[in-house]
Amino acid sequence: MQRTCVLVVGSSVGMQSNACASTAWGSNWKQNCLPAWPLWGTPHAGSAFRTALGKEKPNSRRCWTASVFFGNCSFAKSWVQGKRTFDALYRRPSRQRSYLMVRGAVVLGASGLVGQRLQQRLANHPMFEVRALAGSARTAGTNPADLTWGLEGHAPALDLPPVFDVQDPGLVGKLHDLGVTWAFSAVPSDVALSLETRLVDGGFRVCSNASAHRRNADVPLVVADLNPQHLRVRPEGELLHACATNCTLIPLLMPYLALHRAFGVVNYHATSEQARSGAGYALLRGEVPLTPDIPGEAEKTMAELAWITGRLAQGQIEPATIDGRMRCQRVDVADGHIVDVVFELAQPVALQDVNAALDAFAPHPDAAGLPSAPLKPLMRVEGSVRREAHLWADGLGFPAEVNPATNLQAGMAVVVGDVEMEGSSRVRLRSLSHNTVRGAAGGVVLLAELASTQWS
Ligand SMILES: NC(=O)c1ccc[n+]([C@@H]2O[C@H](COP(=O)([O-])OP(=O)(O)OC[C@H]3O[C@@H](n4cnc5c(N)ncnc54)[C@H](OP(=O)(O)O)[C@@H]3O)[C@@H](O)[C@H]2O)c1
Repeated sequence: MQRTCVLVVGSSVGMQSNACASTAWGSNWKQNCLPAWPLWGTPHAGSAFRTALGKEKPNSRRCWTASVFFGNCSFAKSWVQGKRTFDALYRRPSRQRSYLMVRGAVVLGASGLVGQRLQQRLANHPMFEVRALAGSARTAGTNPADLTWGLEGHAPALDLPPVFDVQDPGLVGKLHDLGVTWAFSAVPSDVALSLETRLVDGGFRVCSNASAHRRNADVPLVVADLNPQHLRVRPEGELLHACATNCTLIPLLMPYLALHRAFGVVNYHATSEQARSGAGYALLRGEVPLTPDIPGEAEKTMAELAWITGRLAQGQIEPATIDGRMRCQRVDVADGHIVDVVFELAQPVALQDVNAALDAFAPHPDAAGLPSAPLKPLMRVEGSVRREAHLWADGLGFPAEVNPATNLQAGMAVVVGDVEMEGSSRVRLRSLSHNTVRGAAGGVVLLAELASTQWS
């Protein structure tokens, strides 16, 4: 079957563009062109088109462009608070052009939980293509198809050489030979410390889920749709290295920012309930016993909150001063980190104003339109947050049947619920995030999407 690549300009929001795209493609497009893409019935159809575009390699397959311009279509602009997305996308033609270039990538930590989420998310990605996997001596030399796959669904069908050993002195050269320019790191922190530096020195752009270089003055710590401006630390030199945050920070950070911007947060008290997958496959598979305590996690999370919300001044991050207390604990569920938080606000507020502030929380416009960016990074539900119902929140709804290899927004939104007032200025809420998606692989892929629009 021959697949034909179609570019629809204006496909990020607005069902009109999808309708026109479908017309351009022909009525049998779904069967003949891209049988796996869930176009109709999903508001992320525009992303599916862009994904289709990047999946094709312009120089290897026939590619033609049908451009459908909608200018200032008011419906598209207002559709599901998509105005920022629309404006950012239309004002940034360079971002759309960037989808035409597919960047070769290596995943470090091929057999691990986050490494496999990365492979899943990059398998159909419009901007990146996995060309190599690397791991420890334990898995080096293994055919990627023979690695045990631990996520839902099947391993993506990637045509790759045997797994490289991260300690191989010839690693950099082998990756260059494969056209790899980006590295996605999901190895333990002690391994990441020297490995990531070696790859940066070797000319690769490195985006990391490991904690080794977080809060390093030269390495930006970025949640792409919240503090993209931090990518610009060290303005005098080109940056090739960035880190995503700790997974537990995400469900704390989003409501914190929403309430702090609206009312000012004086302090917070948080308790986490972290899923087994947060500690990798060994705990998820029951190969090691579950212990409730997670040493060092609370301190790390609080420090990252201060760093992410800090000010960028003359190329340096000045961490914010935030009064908070946190306790982190592991619970016996597979996926999804919940934090239970009480925020003390700087002023008395009504519950409806708190709800309005949570509902109005908007992503930074720099991230709008990126393939993994949900339209709403924070979603509020009436009543309780539930992992079984809300884990795959995508910024618009709560899909139950998800293919994470094709739906890059699924699992990328944080969900808050159980919102209540305790007195006139204390807000209690519970906040849920998919720890291996938004808190790990999805977060770092979103970071790379953002970085690719800024790094040459
Ligand atoms: N799980 C989460 O929710 C989460 C969230 C945020 C960040 N992270 C971070 O992501 C990283 C991976 O976590 P994970 O949950 O995927 O753990 P995991 O399932 O235990 O996987 C660990 C991976 O690291 C590799 N590895 C172990 N020792 C190595 C060595 N000496 N040299 C090279 N590779 C080595 C393993 O490869 P081999 O099989 O080849 O040994 C495996 O692929 C960690 O830094 C973690 O802190 C995880």
